[in-house]
Amino acid sequence: MTATIDSPRSGRNSSGKNSSGRNSSGKIAPQYRRTGGSRGNFEMLAWLFMRLSGVVLVVLIFGHLFVNLMVGEGIHAIDFGFVAGKWADPFWQVWDLAMLWLAMLHGTNGVRTIINDYAEKDSTRLWLKIVLYAATTVIIVLGTLVIFTFNPCPVVDGVPLPGGFCPAA
Ligand code: HEM
Repeated sequence: MTATIDSPRSGRNSSGKNSSGRNSSGKIAPQYRRTGGSRGNFEMLAWLFMRLSGVVLVVLIFGHLFVNLMVGEGIHAIDFGFVAGKWADPFWQVWDLAMLWLAMLHGTNGVRTIINDYAEKDSTRLWLKIVLYAATTVIIVLGTLVIFTFNPCPVVDGVPLPGGFCPAA
C-alpha cells in the first residue's frame, strides 16, 4: 500500500476531500482570498522570478558543464590551475557570479515556498526561514568574495606559496 501526502496547495486533504477553501456556494472563504494583502505583489514577482531564473539557469549550468567537462581534455584538465585560469578572466567571473546568485536566490525562494506549504506552527516557520536566510546570506557573501578576491599565487610574509603555474618570485 502506498501513502501520499498532499501539499496544502493541492486542494485535497488527507481524506481526499476538496479543501480549496470554497464554500458550498463556490465562493472563496475570506481567509483564502488573495486580494487586499499587505504584501503587494511580492508572491507574483517571486513566481515570475522562479520561471525566469530557471530559464537563465539552464543556459548557465549547461554552459558551465560543457566548458568544464567536455571542451579540450574535458574533466581530466580540471585542477586548481584550471579554476585559477578561469577566474583570471572577467567573463568567467561574471558567469560564475550570475550562476551563484541565481541558483542561491532560486533555491532559497523554492525552499521558502516549501516551508510556507509544510510548516504548520508559526514558530517553526519563523525559525526555518531564519536558518534558510542566514545560510543563503553566508554562501552568497563568501562565494562573491571568493570569485573577486581569489589570488592563485599568494605571497605570505614575502614567501610565495607553491604553485606550478605561478611566476617565480
Ligand atoms: C536547471 C535549471 C533550473 C530550472 C529550469 C528550474 C525551474 C524551476 C521552476 C519553474 C520552479 C517552480 C516550480 C513550482 O512553482 O511549482 C522551481 C522550483 C524550485 N527549484 Fe528550480 N530550477 C532550476 C535549477 C534549480 C537549482 C540549481 C536549485 C537549487 C539551488 C533549484 C531549487 C528549486 C527549489 C527548492 C524549488 C521549489 C520546489 C517546490 O516548490 O516544490 N532549482 N524550479
